[in-house]
Amino acid sequence: MQKLIIQGGVPLNGEVIISGAKNAALPLLCAALLTKETLKITNVPALQDINTMLALLRQMGTRVDATPPMVELCADSLIHLVAPYEMVKTMRAAILVLGPLLARAGEANISLPGGCAIGLRPVDQHIKGLQAMGAEINIKHGYIQAVAKKLRGARIVFDLVTVTGTENLMMAATLAEGVTILENAAREPEIVDLAQCLIAMGAKIRGAGTDVITIEGVSALHGAEHAVMPDRIETGTFLVAATATGGNIELKATHSHLLDAVLDKLTEAGANITSNQHWIRLSMQHKPKSVNVRTAPYPAFPTDMQAQFMSLNCIADGTAIITETIFENRLMHVQELKRMNANIEVEGNTAIITGIPQLDGAHVMATDLRASASLIIAGLVAHGETVIDRIYHLDRGYERIERKLSAIGAQIRRVN
Ligand code: UD1
Repeated sequence: MQKLIIQGGVPLNGEVIISGAKNAALPLLCAALLTKETLKITNVPALQDINTMLALLRQMGTRVDATPPMVELCADSLIHLVAPYEMVKTMRAAILVLGPLLARAGEANISLPGGCAIGLRPVDQHIKGLQAMGAEINIKHGYIQAVAKKLRGARIVFDLVTVTGTENLMMAATLAEGVTILENAAREPEIVDLAQCLIAMGAKIRGAGTDVITIEGVSALHGAEHAVMPDRIETGTFLVAATATGGNIELKATHSHLLDAVLDKLTEAGANITSNQHWIRLSMQHKPKSVNVRTAPYPAFPTDMQAQFMSLNCIADGTAIITETIFENRLMHVQELKRMNANIEVEGNTAIITGIPQLDGAHVMATDLRASASLIIAGLVAHGETVIDRIYHLDRGYERIERKLSAIGAQIRRVN
């Protein structure tokens, strides 16, 4: 198993090119199932989750031509309408094929995502929405077995804000008969990105980016070309790493309005940030100040940046409170950070972090994707050597992170 080894204490200085967003690319690839024509997606990040999704789409009969960072997909004949357990268990986003398959082929058989380290993560909202659109759904042998001769438009009010739930139903509704209204919809930028691609394919969608999305079904969608938006979580992760190490970096191919809540918190921590449409620059001259964080759906502070801010607060001046409101078990990195001497108390979904002058390098274990990023940041600021185990989580969502970090001065290497 591979590990990362980091020698801490070096400020990050230089330029980084930000990759396309994993969470935008995954639903965009699934949109190919909605048409017989070719969908060309550019700026696709080279990630394990993308490989898993492409393998899943291939085994359904989609022809995939991948020349990174470009992928061409043609689902002119769908032969196997199944998402098997082996694939869904490693990547929950596989549930995103459910809506498109039902809408286009009238049938889908998708393994239930099951438990997940960061929380239960049920898919009841996806199922409830598709049922309201006329699908017959049974759960048998751990699979969602769904059939619908023709989906019909419906008014669907989500019980809670769900990102992939909104994406799944938005895709399904593009080919349904009549109008679908999604209320209490997620407003994440990745949903706007998907809507823009679907509109380029001929879909009629209004309101993406607000909490009411209206989709008028059409009889068929056609091919299109679309570039994946920048990864706002990768962007945020590099910004936190530079803030924590007292660095000076410029991030290219990304923009600041994707992460206002994160930039506000970094400014509060003492970072000096400037940006335009194409880049974000950050410099940090002092020791960071503690910042409180409460995660919530977009445009509030993203849960996918919570772990990274935990590491920043570990070495900041003062005491901070971090409250995780989206996932019930997303503070597992705390235990690992404590191995590095961090002073953190956990009470339910809240962590109280008292900053200390320096973390100690230690042997730690990544527990999930964003937790891995928090351990890298901790390793970068720690005294001495940090060894991070189980970095396969990291490869699911960060493109060549150790190479990008090395290029801006980090002492980090991957070993077998
Ligand atoms: C997406 C992101 C993930 C991010 C999360 C929250 C992708 C591929 N993944 O995950 O990186 O952390 O949004 O911003 O885009 N829920 C239900 N029933 C449902 C659906 C969700 O109870 O049917 C709950 C979940 O358990 C969770 C909350 O709703 O507590 C939000 O989950 P959701 O927005 O659906 O997360 P994902 O779309 O899986």
